[in-house]
Amino acid sequence: MSVVDDIKSRLDIVEYISRTVPLKRAGRSYKACCPFHSERTPSFVVDPNRQTWRCFGACSTGGDVFSFAMRQNGWTFAEALQELGKLTGVEVRPRSPEQQAQDEVIDRLRGLVKAAAEFYHEQLLDPRDSEAKRTLDYVRQKRGLNDETIQRFMIGYAPPGWSTALETFTTLGYDEEDLVTTGLAIRNDAGRVYDRFRNRLMIPIRDGRGRTVGFGARALAAEDNPKYLNSPQTTLFDKSHLLFGLDLAGPAIREQETVVIVEGYLDAIQAHQAGYTNVVAQMGTALTETQLKLVAPRWATKIILALDSDAAGQSATRRSLEVARETLQADYGGRLSVDIRILTVPDAKDPDDLIREHPEQWETLIAQAEPVADYVIGMETAELSPQASLQERATLARRVLPLLIASESNLYRKDNLQKLALKLHISERDLLAWADEQQAIDALKSRRREETRQEMPPEPAPFAPDDMDWVPTDDPYAAPRPAQTFPSVGRSPENALERDCLRLLLYQPDLIFDINRKFRELAKNDRALLAGPLNDLNLDDFSRTEYRALAGVFNEALEQDELEILAYMRGQLDGDLWRELEEIIAGDLELLRPRLRHGLSIDLETVVQAAQRTHGVPDPIMQATEKALRLRSQRLLRERQELQYLQMDAAEFENEVEENYDSYIMLSTMAQRLIDAALREQNRVKRS
Ligand code: UTP
Ligand code: MN
Repeated sequence: MSVVDDIKSRLDIVEYISRTVPLKRAGRSYKACCPFHSERTPSFVVDPNRQTWRCFGACSTGGDVFSFAMRQNGWTFAEALQELGKLTGVEVRPRSPEQQAQDEVIDRLRGLVKAAAEFYHEQLLDPRDSEAKRTLDYVRQKRGLNDETIQRFMIGYAPPGWSTALETFTTLGYDEEDLVTTGLAIRNDAGRVYDRFRNRLMIPIRDGRGRTVGFGARALAAEDNPKYLNSPQTTLFDKSHLLFGLDLAGPAIREQETVVIVEGYLDAIQAHQAGYTNVVAQMGTALTETQLKLVAPRWATKIILALDSDAAGQSATRRSLEVARETLQADYGGRLSVDIRILTVPDAKDPDDLIREHPEQWETLIAQAEPVADYVIGMETAELSPQASLQERATLARRVLPLLIASESNLYRKDNLQKLALKLHISERDLLAWADEQQAIDALKSRRREETRQEMPPEPAPFAPDDMDWVPTDDPYAAPRPAQTFPSVGRSPENALERDCLRLLLYQPDLIFDINRKFRELAKNDRALLAGPLNDLNLDDFSRTEYRALAGVFNEALEQDELEILAYMRGQLDGDLWRELEEIIAGDLELLRPRLRHGLSIDLETVVQAAQRTHGVPDPIMQATEKALRLRSQRLLRERQELQYLQMDAAEFENEVEENYDSYIMLSTMAQRLIDAALREQNRVKRS
């Protein structure tokens, strides 16, 4: 029995969930208002037989006790394993000694930074220190922050001395090196160590999970330069991976599916104080891909960039927009799947000033935020003289076109071209031709990228022969008959398709993007489909616990960019799951086994690479999307069955959940039709 199974067999999901969620019995299952989104009628159901939970409402997701614990506590799979292991007394194999040593170092440093934030905060509130008092007055009166805000953001004050932090923390047992590593202190060429932050307003910066990782320190004296002194770039504090305020903004961003990104820390703080809690701040640099991916399209489908009025036309703004376009234009045909808008604060103010003076105007500005295309046209043509030559205008058009044609839909695209044509006195037809040219170039580029990708591993499929045409289950639209028996708790059954899909992804992780693109393409712009039955491939697509765990960690691996996918997964998985992963890969590499005298764990990465070099399949993307479509189809059917079962049950009791059930089934059926059509189309292409 794997550790996962062992834990599950000792932990009843109903008992575990009801520790924090008031579950009510409804027939054979239990229900409650969903703890993950706000709602009045309960659409959160826990099934004691199958030991699963599901939200049929806005979340439209579900899973086992692990995914519940992960979602509720923001844990990674490895953390959930540790915690639930502790809870049930199941011994979870520890991470490797090197990993542990590294974890300990990072933990200690995080502890130091957190303690420093608390220390600076206490300094600010120290009534005996007259300098601190002056700073506190500045924060309250000049910056208009109330005590609750000061506390929530843990605003602090670093006194002017050269060794305040140094002495405090060495006394507490940290050594100088720790202070230097975290950037709290500096070691100069002569070897002398002294405080980095002196006479500054301290703004702690936390990662998305609320862990303090560094500081933005604002000068208090006019002559102090720079205005903001940030913690130095370290593994602990990596600006390109952080958005200020995200830990506090997360829930509001998810709920509103909208994130507002402002330029300054104090802009974000002011917005939160006024109750606009979906606001985060850039880190003083142009936006990076990693930063955007922290919020979109995962949580937000709409990004509003709030720019200071002097920012328009600045190169950092332009760069941020370019990055946003490249990152979020994941759709086929280059359509933006995320709505990006620009808000400009008028009258040479920044959001901080505006919100402090007229908090209510913020909402108006948000509502009036311009689509990115309009903004770009306006910004680029503003400086164009009326006498500009055709060549100047054409150059401008070519520069702007990539952003414009990346617009949400053909309708907008046409509209954008019209606007640009009007501004530049260039015919729409010419613009259209250039736009097509641009798209052809983009397509060529992406094809090149695909070609340079490594070849695929072999496709021996002992479980699901590939030459067998895909046959839809007999009438999948009909209300499915509830399955009579359900797998009992414990090891879930093998599932060949699930295994195949995982293997493909492990060999060639980039295929996930093609798969998700396919789902989005099918969903067109239907929000409900995108959020539910046609959402990105995720652990819900897998029914077997081990595969769910692997899929979850795989997705986590994609979200970071420090380690190779497999290296990251190795760090997160306990021994059993890692072996499971090895088996998935090795199961079909029997050919290679003899070459591996020392067993697979020695160098899985090399094995995978070797396999990729020696075998090729004609069209990896087509293969992957087809498999993924079948996998999704299997999941939808499973969910509908599960639902039918619950519905029969609910009918005996009350029917308030039923509306949710019906719309869920409708949506699922709609998605099923789209998937079936896509699979038929792929079969047709394959045959011809
Ligand atoms: P601003 O100069 O607009 O500062 O820089 P602000 O946040 O509005 O601060 P106040 O209102 O003058 O007190 C915007 C952001 O640019 C980065 C910081 O992240 C800041 O919040 N910045 C600015 C730096 O990193 N270093 C600097 O020297 C200046
Ligand atoms: Mn400001």
